[in-house]
Amino acid sequence: MKDFAKKLIDWHQHYGRKGLPWQGVRDPYKVWLSEIMLQQTQVVTVIDRYQTFLEKFPNVQALAQAPLDEVMALWAGLGYYTRARNLHACAKIIVAQYAGQFPKLPEQLNELPGIGKSTARAITAFCFNYPASILDANVQRLIARTHGIQGSLKSRVENQKLWDLADQLLPKDAQSMPTYTQALMDFGATVCKPTSPSCHNKLSPSCIYLADCLAFKDQVVMQIPLKIKKVPSKIVVSEMLLMIDHSEILLEKRPLSGIWGGLWTLPETQWVEIKSEEEVSQVEFQIEKFQPLISLVNPSKYRQGKILAPLKHVFTHRTLYFSTRIVKVLKSEVKCNDSCQWIKLSDLPNFGLPTPVKKLLEDFQLLKRV
Ligand code: ADE
Repeated sequence: MKDFAKKLIDWHQHYGRKGLPWQGVRDPYKVWLSEIMLQQTQVVTVIDRYQTFLEKFPNVQALAQAPLDEVMALWAGLGYYTRARNLHACAKIIVAQYAGQFPKLPEQLNELPGIGKSTARAITAFCFNYPASILDANVQRLIARTHGIQGSLKSRVENQKLWDLADQLLPKDAQSMPTYTQALMDFGATVCKPTSPSCHNKLSPSCIYLADCLAFKDQVVMQIPLKIKKVPSKIVVSEMLLMIDHSEILLEKRPLSGIWGGLWTLPETQWVEIKSEEEVSQVEFQIEKFQPLISLVNPSKYRQGKILAPLKHVFTHRTLYFSTRIVKVLKSEVKCNDSCQWIKLSDLPNFGLPTPVKKLLEDFQLLKRV
């Protein structure tokens, strides 16, 4: 397509998103952090969290030296916690193996934990004017629509086609790489949107590619990218145990791999799968379900605990309903393994808690809402 990059850069001058805190930044540490945060989190949420993170960890050395728990606590609420664990692991590698300097080639960055091919290329384009195309979901959609790619973008063949096109469309001068890369992202997010793209505006369809776009010409804009039918998400139930001894509660540190890895949660039973939401309150748990994590000297205390109505938490592929049982105990009555720890309520803000657990403790006024 002729002048693809030029049109996009001109568009960005007038209509691109302006004033985002990571724009115009050339420091690879800051750019890397923003790209990782933005992978699965909305721009509005990232703005604040990005700045708080940078205040606490202003450079890669500070991040590498921090205990993982501190990083997790700062990430709490952003979801997709593997990102935070990878961020920390990556910082350590950059300090230990690259003397604290980010490598300048996309292939080198792509080797590091949590940095995928597109993110690696975005970092090098933003920081070093490196002429590398990116292909996040927004860019995939834009290129697939303008070039009429109707097959599944997940297939190897179509994916390779997209990368080839993305390379061909790059601007000729490397100086434009940061603006062009930001423009690609902005255009996909604000004009060539997944639903209600600007070309579908009945009163005044608008888009710089109206005359060139194959999907628009063939009236298949909404069919691209091809949507694969989702399998309905599974429903699971569990019970969490809120053990209180005066001003301390018992928390469990999750293993690094798996759901909520590295975060602190209330001790929880294994998830039990159910067929429909009607069955949520029919599942009953016993204290034995918490073993080997926890056992009680006097199991009747568990049975006397008050049970709160189940709360719903939606994951990508699962819907979890968890009820909470509040059990007042003395620490001496509880046997727990090394992954559990009694935590003072006043210390809770220093621990990375998964969002639903945080909300529950806030609702129960054990944790102050901030
Ligand atoms: N999503 C991923 N990277 C982004 C960026 N640099 N600006 C806005 N949204 C983004």
